[in-house]
Amino acid sequence: MAIQWFPGHMAKARREVTEQLKLVDVVFELVDARIPYSSRNPMIDEVIKDKPRVVLLNKMDMANLNETKKWMSYFEEQGFYPVLIDSKNGKNLSQVTKAAEIVTKEKFDRMKQKGLRPRAIRAMIVGIPNVGKSTLINRLAKKSIAKTGNMPGVTKKQQWIKVGKTLELLDTPGILWPKFEDQTVGKKLSLTGAIKDSIVHLDEVAIYGISFLQERDLNTFNKHYNIDVTADTPYIEVFDAIGRSRGLKLKGNEIDYESVVELIIRDIRNEKIGKYTFDHISMSEVDDEE
Ligand code: G4P
Repeated sequence: MAIQWFPGHMAKARREVTEQLKLVDVVFELVDARIPYSSRNPMIDEVIKDKPRVVLLNKMDMANLNETKKWMSYFEEQGFYPVLIDSKNGKNLSQVTKAAEIVTKEKFDRMKQKGLRPRAIRAMIVGIPNVGKSTLINRLAKKSIAKTGNMPGVTKKQQWIKVGKTLELLDTPGILWPKFEDQTVGKKLSLTGAIKDSIVHLDEVAIYGISFLQERDLNTFNKHYNIDVTADTPYIEVFDAIGRSRGLKLKGNEIDYESVVELIIRDIRNEKIGKYTFDHISMSEVDDEE
């Protein structure tokens, strides 16, 4: 669903998440493992503050495993508790509960010392649209929970979902806005399907995509489209080569660039070429993008 985030929506979303946070012991911050930096809300630390947090890198099935390992170490170094999951196929989900137990242990030990009755850990999921919040809730609930539209402010009665014996999850996730200031981040969000509308020009997204492939996985890229470009071939020539190879032409034998652009984006989004992580762990890049 396309969302237009206006300042009013952002303030409201933040208020709602802040209210929900009061109900829980731990927050699951859900990010896309392909873009662990770009898929985070820009104010996430200010919103969550010092509430115990587990960073869930979702869609692990779609990311590059080597890069993912580096991101896991990065989050560990930052003092977060990262867990790699695939909500769609239900992989690694037992780790989510375990992580929640670890990060809330101190609080629950204290409660026990005070003689309070043991209770389940209360948790909520927070993240930008399309990172897989509903998919994860349904997986953990082991049933289908109606999706609250991807609009902040769509309220419904919140309920707790029992996840095993030790965890209770709010059935409504906190939906926060993505980063929009940075053009590169916008292209990555589009390339991974986190934003599907035209906030960013699709031709620029495709150009970004092919330059990524030229730089990082040239052989696979050439093979996939049956083309023969180099890392330095200008993008327009790459478009031409793909258009010719796939017969994407208009009347008069001209290349149908619109179709080429759509094809490239679709292929990357659907992992047709390979599994890629678009955010790189070099801190300088992360810094550049802020
Ligand atoms: P949201 O609530 O955060 O907005 O995200 P949602 O659960 O709707 O998930 C967005 C898309 O991401 C869905 O695909 C969903 O199936 C997919 N997805 C979620 N988690 C994973 C994962 O771990 N791995 C993979 N490969 N995909 C995941 P969709 O194409 O929008 O819908 P559908 O085709 O699944 O119906």
